Amino acid sequence: MGWSSWNSFSNTVNAQIVMEQAKAMAANGMKKAGYQYINIDEGWWLGKRDANGNIVVDEQAWPALAEGETAGDMGNIVRFIHGLGLKAGVYTDAGKDGCSMFPDLGPKYFGAGSEGHYEQDFLQFARWGFDYVKVDWCGGDKENLDPAVQYAEIARAIAKAEKATGHRLYLSICEWGKQSPWTWAPHVGGAPADVWRTSGDIVDPIVASGEHADRKAGFEKMLANFDQGIHPEAEHTGFYNDPDMMVIGMPALTDVQNWVHMSLWAMSGAPLLVGADLTKVTPVTLQILTNPDVVAVDQDALGLQAVKVAQQEQGVEVWSKPLAKPGERAVLLLNRTADAKEITAKWKDLGLAEAQAQVKDLWTGEILPSFGMYTVKVPPSDAVLVRVQGSEGESKVYRPEAAARAACRACDVRFSQVEAHGGWARVKITYANPDKAARYAELRVNGQSATAIAFPATGAAAGSVVVQVQLDRPDASNVLIFSADHDGMPAIESITVQ
Ligand code: GLA
Repeated sequence: MGWSSWNSFSNTVNAQIVMEQAKAMAANGMKKAGYQYINIDEGWWLGKRDANGNIVVDEQAWPALAEGETAGDMGNIVRFIHGLGLKAGVYTDAGKDGCSMFPDLGPKYFGAGSEGHYEQDFLQFARWGFDYVKVDWCGGDKENLDPAVQYAEIARAIAKAEKATGHRLYLSICEWGKQSPWTWAPHVGGAPADVWRTSGDIVDPIVASGEHADRKAGFEKMLANFDQGIHPEAEHTGFYNDPDMMVIGMPALTDVQNWVHMSLWAMSGAPLLVGADLTKVTPVTLQILTNPDVVAVDQDALGLQAVKVAQQEQGVEVWSKPLAKPGERAVLLLNRTADAKEITAKWKDLGLAEAQAQVKDLWTGEILPSFGMYTVKVPPSDAVLVRVQGSEGESKVYRPEAAARAACRACDVRFSQVEAHGGWARVKITYANPDKAARYAELRVNGQSATAIAFPATGAAAGSVVVQVQLDRPDASNVLIFSADHDGMPAIESITVQ
């Protein structure tokens, strides 16, 4: 959760702008609501290096901010941001050039990428004290590089920088979904957690005083980004699809569109990065961004993404995001059509028992009990977001096949007689990991794509993580295989399929 400079400031970004935004976030209730990152996007550096290959920073744009500081040291702005109790993000490209060779404002700049300097640059970012780095793909794309290879190198450079400085950079991959990052980005290069973009930009920057000041953010493009960002199999245990910075509060979006946008990002479990100018956002926009129930849906500890559980007709949809508390779901009744529609969410489709449940409308705060289903009339191009508190439906427990149960840190753990399941199944994996750090394993379902799952330390007791999979083979013939990813497997005791 945080703010990014790109959408509203493009490459005009400088220390003054960043300080104003950080101060606004600390004071306007966003920080209190959980927003913490102030991310400096492209334009902070334009490709100049010294004789030793070190990044050279413009001293006027990034001056000394306190006594004893030197101009051109990005550590200055990081200290300022940290001083407000916030975290700081920076930006580079995986290729030799960055995106500034395709400028939206001003001249082209070449050489603003980190290729050939991965270790040097990520060490520098960590030394400056940054907490987050977004790594774009303009240069990598131009050179036709393989993103799975480059981002793995980058993750290793980040790990090395952490060893040297004790400071970790959170990795944000920005490859726009071009080469299906959800298939390779989770745990790429050993990254303990990361996010990856799944689509292009919702809007090109709208800089208030710039030549594109009359550009507008589009509701349809925002919806398209939401759709392109849905890859539930890959989103769990610290790995997240990223449908782009939000355009909430930016020119042209109405309040209704803003809350639909916020509802969609929360359901997606997406990073909540605000692209608007925080010094100008309206009180209504702030209310939308900071609604505690909606933020809690996005940040829910289970870390799962919503799946579409019903479509009454084209554009009339029910989405469900399983929440950490048993029996809880966030449910979005989404009407993409031009007419008002009655939409019904059925407990059966949510995986809940046919019983009384409490439904809370997260935008109005209204609470009502409902039995078996919830129906609401949704205006055109609008959505209703509710939290349903009921009880879990039936589930089935499976134990690993005998051969794999031996204490073998590198052996596959197989479940090959798992029953078919309509739509997305939730799989709770009960495991033990006696290490201090997380272990990782890859899960393959029916021989298809693998996803890397993090298994945090559990001590002596058992723990669990939940993932979502599709079990589309008939009868009890679905196969789930967990394989060691790098070093060691957790001890998987059982899976509970619902
Ligand atoms: C790409 C990214 C954007 C932004 C710009 C900067 O388009 O997708 O989010 O970082 O580059 O040029």
